[in-house]
Amino acid sequence: MDRVEDSFINKTVLVTGGAGAIGGNLVRKLIDLDTKKITILDNLSSSYEWNIPKSDKVQFIKGDILDDVKLKWVFKSKPDIVYHLAAHFANQNSVDKPETDLMINGLGILKVLEYAQLCDVERFIYSSSGCGVYGLDSKMPFEEHDVSINLHTPYQVTKLLGELYTNYYHNLYNLPIVNARFFNSFGPGEVPGKYRNVIPNFFYWSMKGLPLPITGTGEETRDFTYVGDITDGLLAMAHYEKAIGEAFNLGASREIMIKDLASWINELTGNDAGINFKERRDWDAKSRLLSCINKAGNVLNYKPKVEFRDGLKETHQWFVDNWDNIQKFAEF
Ligand SMILES: NC(=O)c1ccc[n+]([C@@H]2O[C@H](COP(=O)([O-])OP(=O)(O)OC[C@H]3O[C@@H](n4cnc5c(N)ncnc54)[C@H](O)[C@@H]3O)[C@@H](O)[C@H]2O)c1
Repeated sequence: MDRVEDSFINKTVLVTGGAGAIGGNLVRKLIDLDTKKITILDNLSSSYEWNIPKSDKVQFIKGDILDDVKLKWVFKSKPDIVYHLAAHFANQNSVDKPETDLMINGLGILKVLEYAQLCDVERFIYSSSGCGVYGLDSKMPFEEHDVSINLHTPYQVTKLLGELYTNYYHNLYNLPIVNARFFNSFGPGEVPGKYRNVIPNFFYWSMKGLPLPITGTGEETRDFTYVGDITDGLLAMAHYEKAIGEAFNLGASREIMIKDLASWINELTGNDAGINFKERRDWDAKSRLLSCINKAGNVLNYKPKVEFRDGLKETHQWFVDNWDNIQKFAEF
């Protein structure tokens, strides 16, 4: 079994949060593999029915990860592999609703882990966050061992908490977990909204002919990673034995300045409304984010392939193709 794809032959896969931005892209890849069945458990709190991948292999269960009835139902089909992507997303949302954040990202993962452990799953892959686990006291580019406990939002605290729980299940019950630390995912499939990431929101405003608001100087950088590269990394995490019990950065290991991002998006969409500089948000303490991806490269053979501006073009095309739905459903 040398090929990553072979690890999915005839497998049943559960994807919590599978209707979301990254989950939807992951499910699309799983459909194309020789998987037997893919179950999505998602309460559609930040995603939409029209954006869920459709296939005979996909079973969509609308439900909450806090609901034991729904959890029993999705674990009844004994998934071999679990991707836990459901989460209360993200920083600003958690500052506004810290208790909901703790319930979903804390109690939620604990419940999903408990069922996964009882069902003896072959692999449990958790979607952690680079912006969550590394802090101002972590050295750039961030390496996996250099986590911080000086965090700035409830979301960062609970994403780290998720890793503490997965590690606990691995240590006590030998549950074969892997922690995936994503860095600013972007690409087709992410619907803009009040609590969404900067790239879909910039596309939304620029396609409406509005100036792009930058909260800061614009010199801030992020390690934007194309969603297709992230989902390749997620597949590899189910394949390699050496991944078990480990955490991996799934970044692009390249810094992009926010003011460049804004100009490129305005250029792509033909928006001449420019940029509007605003006050930095209180919790937004990290002016730069950059991943080291050597460990993922060595163990998972992870190698991001998509050039940043090519990824932007793909994202723009998805916005053009889905503009009616996006305008109808985006909530600000
Ligand atoms: N997008 C990023 O840049 C990024 C970066 C780091 C980590 N992550 C993590 O990756 C995962 C996926 O992120 P995403 O960008 O696809 O987010 P997303 O919001 O698009 O997807 C999360 C999905 O979980 C669902 N959900 C939320 N609460 C739920 C609940 N209680 N029960 C069932 N379903 C629920 C939502 O409806 C949504 O479809 C999340 O865990 C997120 O914390 C994302």
